[in-house]
Amino acid sequence: MKNILITGASSGIGFGLVNKFLDNDYYVYTVSRRTESLSDLKISKDRLTIIKADLTNSSDQAKIINELSGIDNLEIINNAAILIPKPFGNMGIAELRDHFEINFFAPITLLQLLLKQNTVTKVINISSGAAEFALDSSFGYCTSKAAIHHAMKCLNLECPETKFINVRPGMVATPLQDRLRELGATIFPKGNVFSKAKEENKLISVATVANFIYWILNVSTEFRKAWSIYDEEHHKYWRKSEALVGL
Ligand SMILES: NC(=O)c1ccc[n+]([C@@H]2O[C@H](COP(=O)([O-])OP(=O)(O)OC[C@H]3O[C@@H](n4cnc5c(N)ncnc54)[C@H](OP(=O)(O)O)[C@@H]3O)[C@@H](O)[C@H]2O)c1
Repeated sequence: MKNILITGASSGIGFGLVNKFLDNDYYVYTVSRRTESLSDLKISKDRLTIIKADLTNSSDQAKIINELSGIDNLEIINNAAILIPKPFGNMGIAELRDHFEINFFAPITLLQLLLKQNTVTKVINISSGAAEFALDSSFGYCTSKAAIHHAMKCLNLECPETKFINVRPGMVATPLQDRLRELGATIFPKGNVFSKAKEENKLISVATVANFIYWILNVSTEFRKAWSIYDEEHHKYWRKSEALVGL
């Protein structure tokens, strides 16, 4: 049986991934601060360990490491992240640090500990267009996502026995997107683009993202260091009848 650790599993993409991997005979370990959605899953939980933890808290990190002790053939999806928009001029450095704590330092700390303790075969980092392109009022998000994206490239060099893969999931219908649309244009000008994408039915569903990631991990024989859901050339291999966009 394959084992997978999914961070940020309580909502959005992470929750979709939990469902997908449980449906496909994986043993799934989840990490999030809230756990109600996972406890409420109407499926058998004999292949699910729910770890209630704040990834930025060192004693919670120790709890996660302890839970995963002795687990080999481990795959990891680094999915948990925050995006709290603020214009650069008003942003406190503490707010910048908060982004780096969860989006960069927490996954790097956890990875360093897990790579020592477990046989980790593959790590997927849920990256973002924002790792490469600048978004207004998102300094903390863009820079921390760029840092973790680049970290995967460094780790491919330093730890060749594990494959580190960046995946860009596209614009996905999740609670994060809901929150961004609710902010006014002065706080988050990009919100208009997300509102337009929602109106035009161009947000991708979490189930579609989960199909894509499952395919990368289990079916594709090609090792790429970076995938984007918007590259159409691989769609024929993993998309079923569902449209890429539209819910
Ligand atoms: N949605 C999009 O359009 C989009 C586009 C590009 C990339 N992404 C990336 O996709 C990933 C998931 O985003 P999403 O849209 O699904 O967001 P979401 O619905 O807000 O989910 C974020 C998850 O992260 C968890 N999390 C946040 N802080 C945490 C902490 N300190 N400790 C443990 N867990 C924590 C949350 O769980 P708790 O609150 O329960 O702890 C939640 O499960 C992120 O890496 C994001 O950058 C999303």
